[in-house]
This record gives sequence, structure tokens and C-alpha cells, in this order.
Amino acid sequence: MSALTREEKQTLIRAAFEARKQAVAPYSCFAVGAALRSADGRVFTGCNIENAALTPTSCAERTALFKAVSEGVTRFTDIAVVGARMGEVNELVTAPCGVCRQALYEFCGDGLNVIMARTEDDYIERTLGELLPFAFGPQNI
Ligand code: THU
Repeated sequence: MSALTREEKQTLIRAAFEARKQAVAPYSCFAVGAALRSADGRVFTGCNIENAALTPTSCAERTALFKAVSEGVTRFTDIAVVGARMGEVNELVTAPCGVCRQALYEFCGDGLNVIMARTEDDYIERTLGELLPFAFGPQNI
């Protein structure tokens, strides 16, 4: 259960929409933004960054995570994710891909609250443990 208020969640969703504007997605034309909130209340944003060779592409969630970790921040409570084809509003929410779930799990474990939003008022929340059950992580090594 997230400790954030509805207003704080909406602020996080707004930050994800803002980050989505920087998406580099000439191949898929699908733009994603993410906003990751650290345990001390800071927000790290990210967008997807595609690559002509495709596999080096970074999803928005990993961009945000790696920005934070590279600045020494490793504890997080919530992440908001928004995605849609460029110039469109999505009917479906954008859920983190499997690789991003695994990358987030390394630092966040089961408890991270994942906010998948269509708009500021219309979102679904799940814990990372729900999205990636029975995960393999640092505890297994
Ligand atoms: N993408 C993300 O950035 N995050 C997700 O959760 C799902 C997919 C990106 C990767 C690629 O640039 C584009 O969306 C289409 O798959």
C-alpha cells in the first residue's frame, strides 16, 4: 500500500507525462514517461530512448531508475508510468515490461507501488510483487 496521498500520486503522474515529452521513439512511435519517487521524496523522471539497433533501447522506467541510482539514490516507494502512441491518448495503461520489472526489483523488492496511468484521474496501482511474483533477486544470490 502506497503512503502517498491522491494529490501526491497525481503530481507523480504529471511528472511522468512531462518526461514523456522527451521520448526518443522514431521506430515504434510509442512514447513513454516514468516518474520514480525515492524514499526521501525526490522524483527522478525518464523517457524511452530508442536506438537504430533496437536492443540498446532504454525504457522510460529504466532511464528513471538508472538516473537515480547513478546519483546514489537506491530506495524508492512509487513509480508512475504513462505511455501512448505519439499524439494519441491510450485506452490501455502502459505496464512496465518484464525487463523493467526485473531491474526495479533489484532495488525495490516487492513493495514498490506501480501507478499505471491513463490520466491524472484514471490510474491502476499494483505492487511490484503483484507484477513480478516469485521474483529472482539479490536475496537468491
Ligand atoms: N516502453 C517503455 O519505455 N516502457 C514500458 O513499460 C513499455 C515499453 C518503450 C520501449 C519502446 O521504446 C517502446 O515503448 C515500444 O515498445
